[in-house]
Amino acid sequence: MRRVALLGATGSIGRQAIAVIEREPELELCALASGSTDLTGLARAHGVEHVAVGGNATGMLEAAEPDVVLNAIVGFAGVRATLWALEQGVTLALANKESLVAAGELALAAHERGGGLLLPVDSEHSALFQCLEGRRPETVDSLVLTASGGPFRGRSREQLEAVSVEDALAHPTWQMGPKITVDSATLANKGLELIEAHFLFGVPYDRIEVVLHPTSVVHALVRFRDGAALAHLGVPDMTVPISYALTYPERAPTPARTLDLAAGLTLEFAAPDLETFPALAQARRAGEAGGTFPCAFNAANEVAVDAFLHAGLPFPAIAETVAAALEAVDGPPARDLDDLLEADAGARRAARSALAEHGVALA
Ligand SMILES: NC(=O)c1ccc[n+]([C@@H]2O[C@H](COP(=O)([O-])OP(=O)(O)OC[C@H]3O[C@@H](n4cnc5c(N)ncnc54)[C@H](OP(=O)(O)O)[C@@H]3O)[C@@H](O)[C@H]2O)c1
Repeated sequence: MRRVALLGATGSIGRQAIAVIEREPELELCALASGSTDLTGLARAHGVEHVAVGGNATGMLEAAEPDVVLNAIVGFAGVRATLWALEQGVTLALANKESLVAAGELALAAHERGGGLLLPVDSEHSALFQCLEGRRPETVDSLVLTASGGPFRGRSREQLEAVSVEDALAHPTWQMGPKITVDSATLANKGLELIEAHFLFGVPYDRIEVVLHPTSVVHALVRFRDGAALAHLGVPDMTVPISYALTYPERAPTPARTLDLAAGLTLEFAAPDLETFPALAQARRAGEAGGTFPCAFNAANEVAVDAFLHAGLPFPAIAETVAAALEAVDGPPARDLDDLLEADAGARRAARSALAEHGVALA
């Protein structure tokens, strides 16, 4: 039996993870966490004793002693759980990309000390992990992340001025929580994934490419030094990477559809529009600058997305807010979690002042 602590149990990934766990006899839920949603019913239904609502879930994790932590919390709020699992050497199935982006080197150092498994749940990174498994690093030329381009692919800067929250939440290929759905529309999600890939696979930024691929069938590719590229294909269905991470290395069956190649499958790729969607280039610069710039990028983006979703910030002002916040911070390296929390808070303050210039205030 593999005992799973599911953090972010009430979200999009959390619900799909429960479906995976219910089907798989070798998996058992042992702990649940949410931000504010009551978990009494869910815990009772699954016979789960350890529950945490809001606050820091690491005390609960200590008590629950899971074999795997599936971190599906949204945002920087997941950082303590990520660092805890890595430090303890408990297998970490990581959906919460923001924590790895923000904590970067601290997370890698904790992983090194803990010696456990770090298994990506993000579909692109799960794909890269699978294409890279068993390959020697010197044979790898570059990584390619695919991006659907979100609901506004092909639009001009002017057309983006008037888009609504509802428009942004209508993702063409994936059903996800609101924050990541907006991030997909701005391409900030692909920016976070770029930094995530850098930390997961130790590949420098200039060897990680992003291409648009509207149907999300090819999840990622690895190019090798001999000119070959390995790609990972599948219908867009998060239960596949969730199941892969939770049952690794067994690769348990899932109910996901297989690709119907005989019905005709056309794969289209294109370069992303970095001018209309500046978030991807911002993330790349933040990643290359290092220190706590990735943490600041993430923090400012969280504030700006919140303002778009709940306080009427225009869509293009999300990237403008992030740019202003990144200008205002110094991005010193974080020696410990306290430094990281300070960098996160500083970038949030900078983003809020930038919002004030748009006449927007968050509660
Ligand atoms: N959805 C996808 O298909 C997908 C794909 C790849 C990666 N991811 C990543 O997976 C993560 C989750 O995404 P999602 O789409 O599942 O988000 P979501 O639907 O918004 O769910 C977020 C979950 O996090 C919980 N949460 C929020 N703040 C918390 C806190 N302080 N402590 C504990 N739990 C907290 C929420 O609980 P409440 O119900 O109480 O608010 C909810 O269970 C994100 O990092 C996202 O980037 C998602």
